[in-house]
Amino acid sequence: MKIVSCNSNRPLAEAVAASLGLPLCKAVVRRFADMEVFVEIQENVRGEDVFVIQSTCYPTNDNLMELLIMIDTLRRGSARRITAVIPYFGYARQDRKSGPRTPISAKLVANLITEAGAHRVLTMDLHAGQIQGFFDIPVDNLFAAPLFVRDIKERYGARDLMIVSPDVGGVVRARQLAKRLNVDLAIIDKRRERAGVSEVMNVIGDVSGRHCLLVDDIIDSGGSLCNAAEALIAQGASGVGAYVTHGVLTGGAVSRVASSPIEMMTITDSILGTEAVRLASNVRQITIAQLLANAMRAVSDESSVSSLFD
Ligand code: R5P
Repeated sequence: MKIVSCNSNRPLAEAVAASLGLPLCKAVVRRFADMEVFVEIQENVRGEDVFVIQSTCYPTNDNLMELLIMIDTLRRGSARRITAVIPYFGYARQDRKSGPRTPISAKLVANLITEAGAHRVLTMDLHAGQIQGFFDIPVDNLFAAPLFVRDIKERYGARDLMIVSPDVGGVVRARQLAKRLNVDLAIIDKRRERAGVSEVMNVIGDVSGRHCLLVDDIIDSGGSLCNAAEALIAQGASGVGAYVTHGVLTGGAVSRVASSPIEMMTITDSILGTEAVRLASNVRQITIAQLLANAMRAVSDESSVSSLFD
Protein backbone atom coordinates (compact mmCIF):
# COMPACT_ATOMS: atom_id res chain seq x y z
CA MET A 1 0.00 0.00 0.00
CA LYS A 2 1.39 3.39 -0.97
CA ILE A 3 -0.02 6.88 -0.40
CA VAL A 4 0.72 9.76 -2.69
CA SER A 5 -0.42 13.34 -2.24
CA CYS A 6 -1.14 16.05 -4.77
CA ASN A 7 -1.08 19.68 -3.65
CA SER A 8 -4.62 20.59 -2.54
CA ASN A 9 -4.35 19.39 1.06
CA ARG A 10 -0.92 18.06 2.00
CA PRO A 11 -1.47 18.40 5.78
CA LEU A 12 -4.45 16.03 5.53
CA ALA A 13 -2.46 13.56 3.40
CA GLU A 14 0.38 13.69 5.93
CA ALA A 15 -2.03 13.07 8.81
CA VAL A 16 -3.59 10.12 6.97
CA ALA A 17 -0.15 8.66 6.25
CA ALA A 18 0.86 9.13 9.89
CA SER A 19 -2.33 7.34 11.03
CA LEU A 20 -1.42 4.42 8.80
CA GLY A 21 2.20 4.49 9.95
CA LEU A 22 3.41 4.95 6.37
CA PRO A 23 5.52 7.64 4.71
CA LEU A 24 4.04 9.58 1.81
CA CYS A 25 5.35 8.27 -1.50
CA LYS A 26 8.12 10.48 -2.87
CA ALA A 27 6.57 12.47 -5.69
CA VAL A 28 6.78 15.92 -7.20
CA VAL A 29 3.73 17.74 -8.53
CA ARG A 30 4.81 21.03 -10.02
CA ARG A 31 4.09 23.53 -12.76
CA PHE A 32 5.92 24.41 -15.92
CA ALA A 33 6.32 28.13 -16.62
CA ASP A 34 3.06 28.15 -18.60
CA MET A 35 1.27 26.46 -15.62
CA GLU A 36 1.06 23.02 -17.20
CA VAL A 37 1.03 20.38 -14.44
CA PHE A 38 4.00 18.01 -14.30
CA VAL A 39 4.21 14.95 -12.04
CA GLU A 40 7.14 12.73 -11.24
CA ILE A 41 6.94 9.73 -8.88
CA GLN A 42 10.37 9.23 -7.39
CA GLU A 43 10.04 5.67 -6.15
CA ASN A 44 8.95 2.37 -7.59
CA VAL A 45 5.17 1.80 -7.66
CA ARG A 46 5.10 -1.26 -9.93
CA GLY A 47 2.53 -3.75 -8.63
CA GLU A 48 1.56 -1.51 -5.70
CA ASP A 49 -1.87 -0.66 -4.26
CA VAL A 50 -1.68 3.14 -4.52
CA PHE A 51 -3.97 5.76 -2.95
CA VAL A 52 -3.86 9.30 -4.37
CA ILE A 53 -5.18 11.95 -1.99
CA GLN A 54 -6.54 15.10 -3.62
CA SER A 55 -9.61 17.24 -2.96
CA THR A 56 -10.89 18.92 -6.10
CA CYS A 57 -11.55 22.20 -4.31
CA TYR A 58 -10.46 25.74 -5.25
CA PRO A 59 -8.62 26.15 -7.62
CA THR A 60 -10.87 23.36 -8.81
CA ASN A 61 -9.65 22.90 -12.36
CA ASP A 62 -5.96 22.95 -11.38
CA ASN A 63 -6.56 20.46 -8.59
CA LEU A 64 -8.60 18.21 -10.85
CA MET A 65 -5.87 18.29 -13.49
CA GLU A 66 -3.23 17.41 -10.87
CA LEU A 67 -5.33 14.41 -9.86
CA LEU A 68 -5.81 13.24 -13.44
CA ILE A 69 -2.14 13.59 -14.32
CA MET A 70 -1.10 11.83 -11.09
CA ILE A 71 -3.40 8.90 -11.91
CA ASP A 72 -1.99 8.75 -15.45
CA THR A 73 1.56 8.78 -14.05
CA LEU A 74 0.78 5.90 -11.68
CA ARG A 75 -0.88 3.89 -14.43
CA ARG A 76 2.15 4.32 -16.67
CA GLY A 77 4.35 3.40 -13.68
CA SER A 78 2.49 0.04 -13.53
CA ALA A 79 0.71 0.52 -10.20
CA ARG A 80 -1.50 -2.56 -9.66
CA ARG A 81 -4.49 -0.63 -8.31
CA ILE A 82 -5.11 3.11 -8.10
CA THR A 83 -7.67 4.55 -5.69
CA ALA A 84 -8.51 8.23 -6.09
CA VAL A 85 -9.14 9.51 -2.55
CA ILE A 86 -11.17 12.69 -3.09
CA PRO A 87 -12.29 13.99 0.32
CA TYR A 88 -14.14 16.90 -1.34
CA PHE A 89 -15.48 16.06 -4.80
CA GLY A 90 -15.73 19.31 -6.76
CA TYR A 91 -18.32 19.71 -9.53
CA ALA A 92 -20.71 17.51 -7.51
CA ARG A 93 -23.36 20.27 -7.53
CA GLN A 94 -23.57 19.96 -11.31
CA ASP A 95 -25.21 16.56 -11.08
CA ARG A 96 -28.14 17.15 -13.44
CA LYS A 97 -29.19 19.39 -16.28
CA SER A 98 -30.33 22.49 -14.45
CA GLY A 99 -31.91 23.88 -17.62
CA PRO A 100 -31.90 23.41 -21.38
CA ARG A 101 -28.42 23.28 -22.94
CA THR A 102 -26.52 22.97 -19.64
CA PRO A 103 -23.92 20.31 -18.81
CA ILE A 104 -23.82 17.47 -16.30
CA SER A 105 -20.28 18.28 -15.26
CA ALA A 106 -20.16 15.76 -12.39
CA LYS A 107 -20.60 13.00 -14.98
CA LEU A 108 -17.84 14.45 -17.16
CA VAL A 109 -15.50 14.55 -14.14
CA ALA A 110 -16.38 10.93 -13.34
CA ASN A 111 -15.50 9.97 -16.93
CA LEU A 112 -12.19 11.86 -16.73
CA ILE A 113 -11.15 10.16 -13.49
CA THR A 114 -12.03 6.73 -14.86
CA GLU A 115 -10.35 7.34 -18.22
CA ALA A 116 -7.20 8.58 -16.50
CA GLY A 117 -6.89 5.09 -14.99
CA ALA A 118 -8.43 5.09 -11.49
CA HIS A 119 -9.73 1.69 -10.36
CA ARG A 120 -11.69 2.97 -7.37
CA VAL A 121 -12.82 6.21 -5.78
CA LEU A 122 -13.04 6.98 -2.07
CA THR A 123 -14.87 10.18 -1.19
CA MET A 124 -16.99 11.71 1.55
CA ASP A 125 -20.47 13.19 1.77
CA LEU A 126 -21.00 13.42 -1.97
CA HIS A 127 -23.41 16.26 -2.63
CA ALA A 128 -25.69 13.78 -4.40
CA GLY A 129 -25.35 10.08 -3.63
CA GLN A 130 -26.33 9.16 -7.17
CA ILE A 131 -22.99 10.49 -8.42
CA GLN A 132 -21.70 7.04 -7.41
CA GLY A 133 -23.67 5.78 -10.39
CA PHE A 134 -21.84 8.16 -12.74
CA PHE A 135 -18.84 5.84 -12.31
CA ASP A 136 -18.54 2.29 -13.61
CA ILE A 137 -15.81 1.64 -11.04
CA PRO A 138 -16.47 1.15 -7.29
CA VAL A 139 -17.07 4.33 -5.30
CA ASP A 140 -17.01 4.36 -1.50
CA ASN A 141 -18.86 7.38 -0.12
CA LEU A 142 -17.95 7.93 3.53
CA PHE A 143 -20.06 10.00 5.92
CA ALA A 144 -18.90 12.68 8.31
CA ALA A 145 -22.00 11.95 10.45
CA PRO A 146 -20.28 9.54 12.91
CA LEU A 147 -17.62 12.21 13.59
CA PHE A 148 -20.29 14.89 13.99
CA VAL A 149 -22.36 12.75 16.35
CA ARG A 150 -19.36 12.14 18.61
CA ASP A 151 -18.44 15.83 18.56
CA ILE A 152 -22.00 17.03 19.22
CA LYS A 153 -22.34 14.68 22.20
CA GLU A 154 -19.07 15.96 23.65
CA ARG A 155 -19.76 19.67 23.07
CA TYR A 156 -23.51 19.95 23.57
CA GLY A 157 -24.21 17.04 25.92
CA ALA A 158 -27.60 17.40 27.55
CA ARG A 159 -28.70 20.67 25.90
CA ASP A 160 -32.18 20.72 24.38
CA LEU A 161 -30.97 20.18 20.83
CA MET A 162 -32.76 20.33 17.52
CA ILE A 163 -31.13 19.42 14.21
CA VAL A 164 -32.11 21.75 11.36
CA SER A 165 -31.81 21.32 7.62
CA PRO A 166 -31.18 24.74 6.02
CA ASP A 167 -33.14 23.70 2.93
CA VAL A 168 -35.53 21.03 1.75
CA GLY A 169 -32.76 19.37 -0.29
CA GLY A 170 -30.77 18.55 2.84
CA VAL A 171 -33.58 16.91 4.80
CA VAL A 172 -32.40 13.30 4.35
CA ARG A 173 -28.90 14.15 5.64
CA ALA A 174 -30.26 16.15 8.60
CA ARG A 175 -32.85 13.51 9.47
CA GLN A 176 -30.16 10.82 9.63
CA LEU A 177 -28.12 12.93 12.06
CA ALA A 178 -31.20 13.73 14.18
CA LYS A 179 -31.99 10.01 14.33
CA ARG A 180 -28.46 9.09 15.42
CA LEU A 181 -28.69 11.73 18.17
CA ASN A 182 -32.28 10.91 19.02
CA VAL A 183 -33.35 14.58 18.81
CA ASP A 184 -36.04 16.46 16.87
CA LEU A 185 -35.70 17.76 13.33
CA ALA A 186 -36.72 21.12 11.88
CA ILE A 187 -36.56 22.24 8.25
CA ILE A 188 -36.14 25.64 6.65
CA ASP A 189 -38.34 26.04 3.62
CA LYS A 190 -37.02 28.82 1.39
CA ARG A 191 -39.53 30.32 -1.00
CA ARG A 192 -39.44 33.11 -3.53
CA GLU A 193 -43.06 33.80 -4.40
CA ARG A 194 -42.24 35.86 -7.51
CA ALA A 195 -39.05 36.81 -9.31
CA GLY A 196 -37.63 39.98 -7.81
CA VAL A 197 -39.42 39.43 -4.47
CA SER A 198 -37.07 38.54 -1.62
CA GLU A 199 -36.93 34.97 -0.33
CA VAL A 200 -39.16 33.99 2.59
CA MET A 201 -37.71 31.56 5.13
CA ASN A 202 -40.41 29.40 6.73
CA VAL A 203 -39.26 27.33 9.67
CA ILE A 204 -41.07 23.99 9.78
CA GLY A 205 -40.98 22.79 13.40
CA ASP A 206 -41.17 24.54 16.77
CA VAL A 207 -37.64 25.78 17.51
CA SER A 208 -38.54 28.21 20.28
CA GLY A 209 -36.28 27.78 23.31
CA ARG A 210 -34.27 25.05 21.53
CA HIS A 211 -30.58 25.01 20.73
CA CYS A 212 -30.48 24.49 16.96
CA LEU A 213 -27.70 22.83 15.00
CA LEU A 214 -27.81 23.46 11.26
CA VAL A 215 -26.41 20.58 9.19
CA ASP A 216 -25.25 20.79 5.58
CA ASP A 217 -22.78 19.11 3.23
CA ILE A 218 -21.30 22.32 1.78
CA ILE A 219 -20.91 25.91 2.87
CA ASP A 220 -19.95 28.02 -0.13
CA SER A 221 -20.97 31.70 0.07
CA GLY A 222 -22.50 31.07 3.50
CA GLY A 223 -25.80 32.62 2.39
CA SER A 224 -27.96 29.54 3.07
CA LEU A 225 -26.54 28.92 6.52
CA CYS A 226 -26.45 32.53 7.76
CA ASN A 227 -29.97 33.29 6.53
CA ALA A 228 -31.21 30.08 8.13
CA ALA A 229 -29.53 31.02 11.43
CA GLU A 230 -31.26 34.39 11.41
CA ALA A 231 -34.63 32.78 10.71
CA LEU A 232 -34.14 30.38 13.63
CA ILE A 233 -33.27 33.19 16.06
CA ALA A 234 -36.31 35.13 14.80
CA GLN A 235 -38.46 32.09 15.65
CA GLY A 236 -37.12 32.02 19.22
CA ALA A 237 -34.25 29.51 19.06
CA SER A 238 -32.05 29.87 22.16
CA GLY A 239 -28.86 29.51 20.11
CA VAL A 240 -27.60 28.30 16.73
CA GLY A 241 -24.57 26.20 15.80
CA ALA A 242 -23.66 24.51 12.52
CA TYR A 243 -22.01 21.31 11.30
CA VAL A 244 -20.91 21.30 7.68
CA THR A 245 -18.73 18.68 5.98
CA HIS A 246 -17.02 20.72 3.27
CA GLY A 247 -15.89 24.30 3.92
CA VAL A 248 -15.75 25.64 0.36
CA LEU A 249 -16.05 29.15 1.83
CA THR A 250 -15.68 31.40 -1.20
CA GLY A 251 -15.63 35.21 -1.25
CA GLY A 252 -16.51 36.75 2.09
CA ALA A 253 -18.10 33.59 3.49
CA VAL A 254 -15.96 33.45 6.63
CA SER A 255 -16.72 37.05 7.59
CA ARG A 256 -20.41 36.43 6.81
CA VAL A 257 -20.36 33.53 9.29
CA ALA A 258 -18.38 35.65 11.77
CA SER A 259 -21.09 38.32 11.78
CA SER A 260 -24.00 35.86 11.81
CA PRO A 261 -25.84 34.51 14.87
CA ILE A 262 -23.96 31.19 14.44
CA GLU A 263 -22.14 30.64 17.73
CA MET A 264 -19.84 27.99 16.32
CA MET A 265 -19.58 26.38 12.89
CA THR A 266 -17.73 23.07 12.78
CA ILE A 267 -16.34 21.98 9.42
CA THR A 268 -14.01 19.12 8.51
CA ASP A 269 -10.55 19.41 6.98
CA SER A 270 -11.67 17.83 3.68
CA ILE A 271 -10.61 21.23 2.30
CA LEU A 272 -7.51 22.90 3.70
CA GLY A 273 -8.56 25.82 5.92
CA THR A 274 -7.47 29.28 4.80
CA GLU A 275 -5.90 31.86 7.10
CA ALA A 276 -9.38 33.40 7.52
CA VAL A 277 -10.73 30.05 8.74
CA ARG A 278 -7.85 29.65 11.19
CA LEU A 279 -8.43 33.15 12.58
CA ALA A 280 -12.24 33.06 12.79
CA SER A 281 -13.42 32.76 16.38
CA ASN A 282 -16.64 30.94 15.49
CA VAL A 283 -15.25 28.45 12.93
CA ARG A 284 -13.40 25.27 13.88
CA GLN A 285 -12.17 22.29 11.88
CA ILE A 286 -12.24 18.66 12.94
CA THR A 287 -10.11 16.14 11.14
CA ILE A 288 -11.22 13.28 8.93
CA ALA A 289 -7.68 11.86 8.77
CA GLN A 290 -8.41 8.80 10.93
CA LEU A 291 -11.68 8.09 9.11
CA LEU A 292 -9.92 8.21 5.72
CA ALA A 293 -7.04 6.12 7.04
CA ASN A 294 -9.45 3.46 8.34
CA ALA A 295 -11.30 3.40 5.00
CA MET A 296 -8.06 3.14 3.01
CA ARG A 297 -6.87 0.29 5.25
CA ALA A 298 -10.21 -1.47 4.73
CA VAL A 299 -10.01 -1.04 0.93
CA SER A 300 -6.44 -2.32 0.91
CA ASP A 301 -7.29 -5.30 3.14
CA GLU A 302 -10.52 -5.88 1.18
CA SER A 303 -12.54 -5.72 4.39
CA SER A 304 -15.81 -3.89 5.06
CA VAL A 305 -15.94 -0.12 4.59
CA SER A 306 -19.58 0.14 5.66
CA SER A 307 -18.60 -0.62 9.26
CA LEU A 308 -17.19 2.94 9.25
CA PHE A 309 -20.67 4.35 8.62
CA ASP A 310 -21.79 3.67 12.23
C1 R5P B 1 -26.88 23.03 -1.72
O1 R5P B 1 -27.66 22.21 -2.16
C2 R5P B 1 -25.82 22.67 -0.73
O2 R5P B 1 -26.20 21.58 0.07
C3 R5P B 1 -25.47 23.86 0.13
O3 R5P B 1 -26.60 24.20 0.90
C4 R5P B 1 -25.05 25.04 -0.71
O4 R5P B 1 -24.06 24.67 -1.62
C5 R5P B 1 -24.54 26.15 0.19
O5 R5P B 1 -24.23 27.23 -0.61
P1 R5P B 1 -24.09 28.70 0.00
O6 R5P B 1 -23.19 28.59 1.21
O7 R5P B 1 -23.49 29.50 -1.12
O8 R5P B 1 -25.46 29.17 0.38
